[in-house]
Amino acid sequence: MPNVQPKVPNVISLRRPDDWHVHLRDRTMLALVLPFTARRFARAIVMPNLVPPVTTVDAALAYRRRILAALPEGARFTPLLTCYLTNTTDAAELARGHTEGVFVAAKLYPAGATTHSDLGVSDFERIMPVLERMAAIGMPLLVHGEVADPEIDIFDREAVFIDRVLDPLRRRLPQLRIVLEHITTEMAVRYVAEGGERIAATITAHHLAINRNALFAGGMRPHLYCLPIAKREKDRLALRRAATSGDPHFFLGTDSAPHPLAQKEAARGAAGIFTAPAALEIYAEVFEEEGALDRLEAFASLSGPRFYGLPVNETRLTLVREPFLVPQRVGEGENAVIPFRAGESLRWRLDFRTAQDPASPSSPETAS
Ligand code: NCD
Ligand code: ZN
Repeated sequence: MPNVQPKVPNVISLRRPDDWHVHLRDRTMLALVLPFTARRFARAIVMPNLVPPVTTVDAALAYRRRILAALPEGARFTPLLTCYLTNTTDAAELARGHTEGVFVAAKLYPAGATTHSDLGVSDFERIMPVLERMAAIGMPLLVHGEVADPEIDIFDREAVFIDRVLDPLRRRLPQLRIVLEHITTEMAVRYVAEGGERIAATITAHHLAINRNALFAGGMRPHLYCLPIAKREKDRLALRRAATSGDPHFFLGTDSAPHPLAQKEAARGAAGIFTAPAALEIYAEVFEEEGALDRLEAFASLSGPRFYGLPVNETRLTLVREPFLVPQRVGEGENAVIPFRAGESLRWRLDFRTAQDPASPSSPETAS
C-alpha cells in the first residue's frame, strides 16, 4: 500500500531568518537577552525606545557599538538601527543617518501609546516635513499602529489608528514606504493585504499563539500583556492565515520586549512579552499546525529583505523535531525575565550546530 499520509518532516532547513522588530534594551538587559536573538537571526531591526530614546546618528552609532560589544564570542549578527521620531526630529539629520547606512528606518510611536513612547509624536502635522523627506529618499517608516487616546477602547486602538491616522497619511504621501508593526486584527490584515507594494506588516509569534482570553485564564497573566494587546480569536486566525499565506506583505517581527520580573508582576505591569528564547520555534509550530511549513522561509527569511531592499541571507539554519523546553526564567534576581511559554515544551528545537554562536552548545539555553 502506498503511504498516502502527507510526510511530516523531522527537520526544517531554511535560509537564516531575520527579526524585523525586536527590543534588545541596553546594559545588563542587553547582555542577557541578545544571545537568544543573535543565535537564530542574522539581522534584526532594533527598536530605538531606550531611555533616553535613540534620536540622533551619534546615539545610534554608540548603541550599535554597545550591541556588538555584548555579542557572544564568535556570533555573527548584524543589528539594524532605527531612529525614534519626535515632534522635533530634524529631517536633514534623519536623511543623513539613512544615507550613511546608520538608520535603516524610522520608528513612529504615537506619544503615550506604549512602553517608553512619552517622547513620541503627539502632533503629526509637525513631522510632515520629515515624512515627506523619508518618502522622497525611500526610507521606510515603521509604525506603532495604535491611537494613544484613552477614550478609545483599548481593543479598538489599532483599527481606529488605521482609519484616522494611517489611511489619511498614505493618501497624502503615497510614495512613503510603511511597515505597520505587530498587527493584531483581521482589519489590519485586510488593510495591508490590499494596500499595494508600499505597505507591509510584521506579525509576532505571540499574536499567532494567543487571543485575549489568555490574558485572564485562571487569573491575570502579566507576562501575556503587551501592546497592541491580543485581540479576539477571529483576529488570531486571520493573522495565522496571513503569516502562512506566502503573501510577501507579511513577515517575521517578534516584538520580543523584555522587562524585569518586578516590572511585569506589579500593580502597573509593563507592556511587553519576552519571546526571544522561543519565538522562532513557536512560528515553526504555527506553520506546522497550518500545514504551511513550506512557506515558513518566505515569512521568516525572504519577504522582509524584499521589502527592505536588502539581500537575503546566504547561511542556513536548521530546526529539528525534538522537544524543546523553554527556560523558566532568564537571568537571576532583580534582572530575571520570564519568557513567553516559560517551562513549556515546544515541538521544534534549534539545531545548535547551525546557531551563529559556536559556543552555544554550553549556553544556558541547552543546559535546561
Ligand atoms: C514594547 C516595549 O516594551 O518596549 N512593548 C510592547 O508591549 N510591545 C513597546 C512596543 O513595541 O509597543
Ligand atoms: Zn515593539
